[in-house]
Amino acid sequence: MYSPDEQKTLDHLSRQLLAATPPVAPADAVAMAASLGDVIRFHEYRYYVLHDPVISDFEYDQLYKKLQTLEEAFPEARMEDSPTSRVSSDLTSDLPEVTHLTPMLSLDNSYDEADLLEFDRQVRKLTDMGDSPIAYAVEPKYDGGTITLVYEGDRLTRSATRGDGVRGEEITANARTIRSIPLKAEFSRYGIHRAELRGEAIIRKDHFLQINARREEQDLPLFANPRNAATGGLRMKDPKEAAERGLDVFVYQLGFAQDGQGNDQLDQFPTHHQALDTLAALGFKVPAGERTVCRDIHEVVAFCESWAAKRDTYPYEIDGMVVKVDRRDLQEICGYTSHHPRWAIAFKFKARQATSKLIDVDYQVGKIGSITPVAKIEPVQLAGVTVSSVSLHNEDFIKGKDIRLGDTVLVERAGDVIPYIVKPLADLRDGSEQAIIFPTTCPVCHTPLFREPDEAAWRCVNAECEAQIKQRMIFHVSKDAMDIDGLGRSQVERFYDLGWVRHIVDLYRLDYDRIAELDGFGKKSADNLHKAIDKAKANPIHRLLHSLSIHHLGKKASKLLAAEVGHVLELKDWDEERYLQIKDIGPIVARNVMAFFGQPDNVALLEEMEALGVNLTQTEEDRPRAIAADAPLAGKTILFTGTLEKMGRKEAQELAEQAGAKPISAVSGNLDILVVGANAGSKLKKAQALGTVQILTEDEFLTLVSS
Ligand code: IVH
Repeated sequence: MYSPDEQKTLDHLSRQLLAATPPVAPADAVAMAASLGDVIRFHEYRYYVLHDPVISDFEYDQLYKKLQTLEEAFPEARMEDSPTSRVSSDLTSDLPEVTHLTPMLSLDNSYDEADLLEFDRQVRKLTDMGDSPIAYAVEPKYDGGTITLVYEGDRLTRSATRGDGVRGEEITANARTIRSIPLKAEFSRYGIHRAELRGEAIIRKDHFLQINARREEQDLPLFANPRNAATGGLRMKDPKEAAERGLDVFVYQLGFAQDGQGNDQLDQFPTHHQALDTLAALGFKVPAGERTVCRDIHEVVAFCESWAAKRDTYPYEIDGMVVKVDRRDLQEICGYTSHHPRWAIAFKFKARQATSKLIDVDYQVGKIGSITPVAKIEPVQLAGVTVSSVSLHNEDFIKGKDIRLGDTVLVERAGDVIPYIVKPLADLRDGSEQAIIFPTTCPVCHTPLFREPDEAAWRCVNAECEAQIKQRMIFHVSKDAMDIDGLGRSQVERFYDLGWVRHIVDLYRLDYDRIAELDGFGKKSADNLHKAIDKAKANPIHRLLHSLSIHHLGKKASKLLAAEVGHVLELKDWDEERYLQIKDIGPIVARNVMAFFGQPDNVALLEEMEALGVNLTQTEEDRPRAIAADAPLAGKTILFTGTLEKMGRKEAQELAEQAGAKPISAVSGNLDILVVGANAGSKLKKAQALGTVQILTEDEFLTLVSS
């Protein structure tokens, strides 16, 4: 439909338009509206027809908003076939079409507090509410696929996708496989004969990962995100395949309700939240703890912001919150535009995806010499942070995704996850892109690189490589290792550049008087640094072992070793067999630790550190703690499920372990205790079915472990 050249031109034009300022002359407005129309149609085609967008949703929304604003300011610029004159469509396949009982509109978008306050002002104006606060129902904006459900005579009779908002694709057979959709629901209790519900079909994030893992094993193409897996799942030709996607449906609207005579029955539910409560009582999955009614727009802002902060801990992907006038009578007064209801608005979280250009690749040398390629990209905003470099992990990653210099790349930053490149947009290539040639020698010391057959990274094997030495010092002082307050990457690099430190041992003979004279230091910070370093000298030896950057010796293995030795230097006399006697220490760790202690330089280094006051002797913390037989959870197995609210999963497991329990990963006859957080799913059901598992709430668990 679009030639490669046209695609390139339209992509280029999109970027210009995104950056363009609104025109003032009507003639310019007409031209700009026409261009916006062209690029928006192109992106809709990429998104809805090819399912392969070349811009982020956020950028698309921005283009769309620009056109809307322009058409409002210059009505003469509105084209008859403007993308704003219809709602977007997913009608592309040969599934039968059905007409919705009431049209399904889109939502207008808001991005910050000012947008929400403006929305509230409009609502108060439309409803003549003056200064009286409006109550809003707020719930997550699920990032899946829209689904409608029609019930007649208490039975599910039809289900459809959203389609173009008026007509959708019939997917009843697939909907019937979704467990959270009741096939029967007693609408007759409310005198309702015919009802249409709207909701979102969505896949749990953890389940999505499992689906992709399975697909990887079967050599099938992976889904880019849970949304694609969900929308694809809804439209499968074979309901069995749809069922395998494990879709959930959250119902978020009762759109239509009539009795047998065709009289409207929606008036029984004077507010949105009452309608949803009723649907919940009828057995539908509706947003529960994640839904609230706010007394005014300020509460809405606070609620939306609190969810923006915790969206990643929620088991489903959400891309914002939906704010709805709670009272139905007020909704009716507000009315609709051809595109969206005036009584609702989406509050969109900051975009996680954006496109950018790959300008260059840097190669960084890690503490054990691993070479990490890092893409330098044109700076983009991602979830509120400017991103200009993105790790490319290793050579296989670059080859696997066929990433080239000069490519336009789709970049994503989800939650706490570091930004990564989803894919290059190969369609936008113009032939000037160049292959990324991985170096064959270390970019810092020029030693030839080496790659172990079963490892992904190329490594510089020169332990004296300047880059490695610096990285080892930086790691040595970091939180995970010796945890020296006030000493981080920038200080280490500064001391290195001054020639004061060449090895980790030098960190223990710093001249604090000279540090006090440095710009930005002074006596006080030099003193504090001195204290922090003295404190670190007394660290338990598991920290010291970990801080030495021995390949494959992680935090856990360091603890296991520390528990077995009275003094660190005993390790120089250990043979492989001795290491392997420790449960959970394997031959790879054993060989690497042996190689380290086999080097006289390393032993000398540790001896020097000890002479400077660094502790090498096993401490109380290093010794394995015997769990008292009377510990509250002694000998029990435990599992956590659902979203914990007062602590992270890891923290909970540590607490459980301290109380003598052993965390396990699945519900089985071996499980003693299941701790249930919000939105617990199949694990809870399975445990209940077993009947032998003690089921605790988060609070009950906390009380128990603190007893
Ligand atoms: S209400 C008339 N509520 O967002 C108002 N929509 O453009 C109809 N969505 O694809 C929408 N979660 O499927 C509403 N809690 C929620 C929602 C939600 C997700 C989706 C909807 C549609 C898009 C709206």
